[in-house]
Amino acid sequence: MRVGYSPKVMEMFMHPKNVGKMEDATVTALTGSVACGDMIKLYLKIDPESEVIVKAMFESYGCAANIATSSMLTELITGKKVEEARKLAFHEIVDGLGGLPKIKFHCAVLAIAALKIALEKWDLLSGRKKLNEKFVNGLLRGILDPHTDRDLITAGIVSRIEIVDDVVNVHLDVDEDDYTEEIVSNVVEVFETLPLKVVVFLRGERYAL
Ligand code: FES
Repeated sequence: MRVGYSPKVMEMFMHPKNVGKMEDATVTALTGSVACGDMIKLYLKIDPESEVIVKAMFESYGCAANIATSSMLTELITGKKVEEARKLAFHEIVDGLGGLPKIKFHCAVLAIAALKIALEKWDLLSGRKKLNEKFVNGLLRGILDPHTDRDLITAGIVSRIEIVDDVVNVHLDVDEDDYTEEIVSNVVEVFETLPLKVVVFLRGERYAL
C-alpha cells in the first residue's frame, strides 16, 4: 500500500489540468468532504444532443490529493457520455494517479460525489428526474455545516424544504453567526445552472445575501 504521494499525484498537484472556473458550464456541483472539511466545485459542459461531456473543470478548496483527484476526474470524464461517466468509481481515480495513501482515498470519493451531483442536475435539466424534496436533499447533502463539519441535512440544520413551481424555499434552523453568510451562499450555489429560484429562510425570516 502506498504511504506517500506517487509521482503522478505530485505532477497533478504541481500542474493540475482543467483547473478554474467555467463560465458556460451546463451543470456545476459543489460538495464538501465530511472526512476533512475540504471542498471542490466541479463544472461540466455537456453536449445536449450527444450527451457527451465535452469539457470538465474544477476549483479546489483542499489538500494536494483533492487537487490531484479532481484533476484526474476531469481527465477521465472528458469525452465520455453521461451514462459512461456515471459508472466511474473512486478506485479508477486512485489507479489513474498510480495509487494514493489510504488516508487520502476520501479525496477521490469526494471527486466522485461531485460528479454524481453534477449528473443528477443534468438528469433534472434533461427531464429524467423531477424536482422534489429528495432531489433538493441530495444537493444540500453536498454542503458542510462549518460548526459541525457534517452535511447540512445530517447536521439537522435544514428544517423544511418547500417547492412551489420553480421556487425552492430552504428553511434553516440555526442562529445567525459568522458562518451564516457562507452557509446561505453555498445553499444558493448548489442550485446554480438550474432554472430555479432559491430562497433561504433563517428561523422563518427570509435571509438576503
Ligand atoms: Fe480533504 Fe483531501 S484531505 S479532500
